[in-house]
Amino acid sequence: MNYQRMPIEVESPEQMGYGNVKYNLTESSFTDTKWQDLNVNLDDLVLCYVDHLGHPGLRQLLATEAGLKADQVILTVGAASALFMISTALLERGDRLLVVRPNYATNIETPRAIGAQIDFYDLKLEEGFQFDVDRLIAMIKPDTRLVSITVPHNPTGVVTPPAVLKRLIAEVERRGIWLLVDETYRDMAFDHPIPYTASLSPRVISVSSLSKTWGLPGIRLGWAMCQDSKMMETLLAAKEQIFICGSAVDEELGYRFYKKKNEVLPRVREKIQEKRALVLSWLEE
Ligand SMILES: Cc1ncc(COP(=O)(O)O)c(C=O)c1O
Repeated sequence: MNYQRMPIEVESPEQMGYGNVKYNLTESSFTDTKWQDLNVNLDDLVLCYVDHLGHPGLRQLLATEAGLKADQVILTVGAASALFMISTALLERGDRLLVVRPNYATNIETPRAIGAQIDFYDLKLEEGFQFDVDRLIAMIKPDTRLVSITVPHNPTGVVTPPAVLKRLIAEVERRGIWLLVDETYRDMAFDHPIPYTASLSPRVISVSSLSKTWGLPGIRLGWAMCQDSKMMETLLAAKEQIFICGSAVDEELGYRFYKKKNEVLPRVREKIQEKRALVLSWLEE
């Protein structure tokens, strides 16, 4: 592995120092939550090693929402570690993948650190930052192992229409390759809920976390979902080699929060809409 720091992390507000950033126009998480707002008491929590797949209660909540089973969900240290585990599970030096770009840095830098060959499909402003599914499929080569997309897209917020996703999934299934969908902004969709993409096919691995919509990047809790039991076993092996298991504290907090997340959702949505309107009017000016 040839690790190099990613500019997005070097320049992140936490690395620059929050106090040094006067106008933070690119914060990706909803306003960060305070501990006191979670209103939890963890006095009884036993700080043991926990279930290696992750908190069973939280996995069950996520699985029920997604129409999956709890053992088709693995909790991870933020979406970032899930993305790392997936790249290292699927790719070796010289392996080929197709990445729709812009993409979250880890989805490019980890394959690069592994020494994989990356083909890029570049999204264009003139095309509304949507990919043309036929053009994307035409770029899949016989040795492509993985196609990597982000829905809703970061940084544009563009959502891939269901019919397009369906067509891409059908192609991935036909070829027996993998589709990675980074859906870390999934809960920020306003018009209609976006499906958990892993629920649509056993060839899809989808990844998300509590960081963005829920404003909890500090508890480092994400997950990967996949219907394929062999892939889940591989991801568990990867997780055990890196972490053994997740943090008992983060997972318990995440579980307690997630049980009640629908209580805060209307406020979160309203606030995001408010901020979006502010940015739009600023852009127009
Ligand atoms: C698209 C996308 N995926 C994954 C991540 C990683 O987030 P986390 O590890 O906090 O869940 C980010 C963070 O900026 C992101 O924008």
